[in-house]
This record gives sequence, structure tokens and C-alpha cells, in this order.
Amino acid sequence: MSILVTGGSGYIGSHTVVELLNSGYEVVVLDNLVNSSKESLHRVEEITGKKVQFYQADIRNREALEDVFTKESIDCCIHFAGLKAVGESVQLPWEYYENNITGTLCLLDVMRKHGVKNIIFSSSATVYGDPDQVPVTEQSPVKKCTNPYGTTKAMLEQILTDIQLADPEWNVVLLRYFNPIGAHKSGRIGENPNGIPNNLMPYITQVAVGRREKLGVFGNDYDTPDGTGVRDYIHVMDLARGHVKALNKIKDQSGLTIYNLGTGVGCSVLELVHSFEEATGIQIPYEIQPRRAGDIATNYADASKAERELGWKAQENIHTMCEDSWRWQKNNPNGFAD
Ligand code: NAD
Ligand code: UFG
Repeated sequence: MSILVTGGSGYIGSHTVVELLNSGYEVVVLDNLVNSSKESLHRVEEITGKKVQFYQADIRNREALEDVFTKESIDCCIHFAGLKAVGESVQLPWEYYENNITGTLCLLDVMRKHGVKNIIFSSSATVYGDPDQVPVTEQSPVKKCTNPYGTTKAMLEQILTDIQLADPEWNVVLLRYFNPIGAHKSGRIGENPNGIPNNLMPYITQVAVGRREKLGVFGNDYDTPDGTGVRDYIHVMDLARGHVKALNKIKDQSGLTIYNLGTGVGCSVLELVHSFEEATGIQIPYEIQPRRAGDIATNYADASKAERELGWKAQENIHTMCEDSWRWQKNNPNGFAD
């Protein structure tokens, strides 16, 4: 089977490509490199000893997509390409809707023209908004998002649902990721944010490597055991394996399915900081700052549906997630620029 991976040179994409190649799939990557570097794919080739066919192209460029679908014999698309910075999306809503929604509509149109009606889509726990109850199941209500990025995920879930309903030849898997951290054990690929990291783990590793002075902890007055925000951190390689498992659902032609990909374990900001210190022996100076706008107290997954139906369960724990994040950052203090 040949898989088109859009956004395949990015953080989750590159780790998924490793798992796909190791599982015997042929992989074609399409990425415009707006938030990644081709070097990640060189390293994927080095890790796996296999070749990745790469197209530097934009999902909004119909001609470029036509070219890929004409030259390559694609069976399924794993669609990671998109802009993902929550704060930036509040400043640049048009750019986020245009890139994520127009881009996906363009991709879906070219796919169906070429008779490729299998897609795995990167959705997010953000669609649950501020949940009434945790852990959240796939049946928990999808709520209004507090930012345009999250809204693009909810809208694209709806668009894919409607398309599959209208044409049952489509097989769609919506994967709702919780908080991916960690890196491939080789330390050769990992998360490589541009500028000041928005997310907790890359901020911690940049403090550890000396690029930032201290971590700001956004609020310690939430209704959680230690007052700081609780999330479900999941190792990016576990997430990558989830995509390979989801391909079996596509092969079963199961229509539309939705899965949470998380560990089911909630971890607070301070617990993550202390786990990182324990795993690496490095102290992370931090200061308590005001809450960040749009943040919620707690979210973690009930991931039992993925276990039941996909035979997938997260294997890694917070300790190994911290070790692996740190190995990547330590060996590549400036990311792929090193
Ligand atoms: P990433 O930025 O590392 O990867 C996204 C890739 O898409 C990048 O390589 C970027 O260059 C590419 N891209 C963006 N717009 C494009 C376009 N118009 N045409 C072609 N390529 C384009 O992000 P990631 O963390 O690997 O996330 C992958 C997917 O998972 C995204 O859709 C993201 O929204 C989703 N997701 C991420 C998280 C997270 O915390 N990292 C959580 C939930 C969902
Ligand atoms: N946090 C800090 N300091 C920081 C960064 C984060 O205290 O410098 C805190 C946040 O307040 C939150 C927790 O760490 O309590 C996690 O924050 P992240 O920004 O790492 O993750 P979020 O849960 O806010 O959001 C992430 C992605 C979203 C995605 C969501 C669920 O950014 O795009 O996970 O997958 F939707």
C-alpha cells in the first residue's frame, strides 16, 4: 500500500513516516515546508534505511496535487498538513481558515477525482473544548472552540463526516490527539518549533539546554490537585503507531470512525516539570504566571475505544517521554539547523 503523508516532514508526520516505512508501507510525503525542514526526512531515511518520495508542494495548489496523484499510485492519505499555533490563529484567522480549510477541500477534491477515498485526519482534543467530564470519550460533546485553529479542526471533522455520509465509498478515520511530546529514541528527529515555543515540553527542553532562562507556569489556581493545568501527554511514537493501526480500519472499509489517541493519564504542569528533572537530572527554574487566555483546567482521554477496535494502546510513560524529548533537544540544541 502506498500512503500519501501531507505535512510528513513535520513533528508528528516524520515520526509516523518512520513507523509506516518500518511496517512495510510505501510513503510519499507532500509538504510546503512552512513549518518544517527537509532535513527531517533525510534523518527518517537514515533511521529506517528506506527511501521517502518527497514533493515540496502546497495542499492549496491543485496542479501540484494533480501532479502527485498522477505520478504516484496512492491508496490512502494521512493528512497532517496544517497550521497549528493556537495564539497565532487568533491573530491570523483568515490565514488559518484559508490554509487548513481551503487546503483540505482542495486535497479532498483531487483525491476523489483520482478515486482515492481513504483518509486519516489529524484532529485534536481541542474539539472537546472545556469538557464537562473527564476522561472524555468519543461521545463527549464537541464544543465551541476558543480559537480559530481549534475551529478549523471541528469544521474539518464536520466536512469529512458529511462527505462520507454523502458518498459511502469514503473511509475516514478522525484521530483526536491529546498532547504529543517525546521524540524517536535515536534522538535524530523531534519537535522543532519556530521562535518561542507555545507548548509546554519544548519550552522545558529549551530551558534545560540553556536557550531560555526559566519556564512560566500559566496559573496555579485551577481546580486540580496542585492548581496547575492537567493534560494527557502522549509519546509521539505511540501516536505514530496509532496511525499505522488506523490504516487497518481503512482496509476494513469501515466508513467513518473516530478515536481518541491519549494515555488516559492526566499529568499537571508541575508534575511534568518534576518528571523531567527526575529523568534528566536537570533543574528547571520556573515562576508562576497568570493563566493563559483560552486554557482549561483539565483534559485527558478515555482511549479504550482505540484499544478495543484498533488494538492500540499507548506504551510509553511520562519518564520515557521526558528522556526522549531531552535526548533529541540535547543532541540538536538548535533543532534541524544543527
Ligand atoms: P507541524 O507543524 O510540525 O507539521 C505540520 C506540517 O504541515 C509542517 O511540516 C508544515 O510545513 C506543513 N504544512 C502546513 N501547511 C501546509 C500546506 N498548506 N501545504 C503543505 N504543507 C503544509 O505540526 P505537528 O505537531 O506535526 O502536527 C501535525 C498535525 O497534527 C496538524 O494538523 C496539527 O494541527 C495536528 N495536531 C497537533 C497537535 C500537537 O500538539 N502537535 C495536537 C493535535 C493535533
Ligand atoms: N503551559 C505552561 N507554560 C508554558 C506552556 C504551557 O504552563 O510555557 C501549560 C498550559 O497552561 C497547559 C499545559 O502547560 O496547562 C499544556 O499546554 P500546551 O500549550 O503544551 O498544550 P495545550 O493543551 O494548551 O494545547 C495543545 C496544542 C493544541 C491541541 C491540544 C490538544 O497546542 O493545539 O494540545 O491536543 F489542540
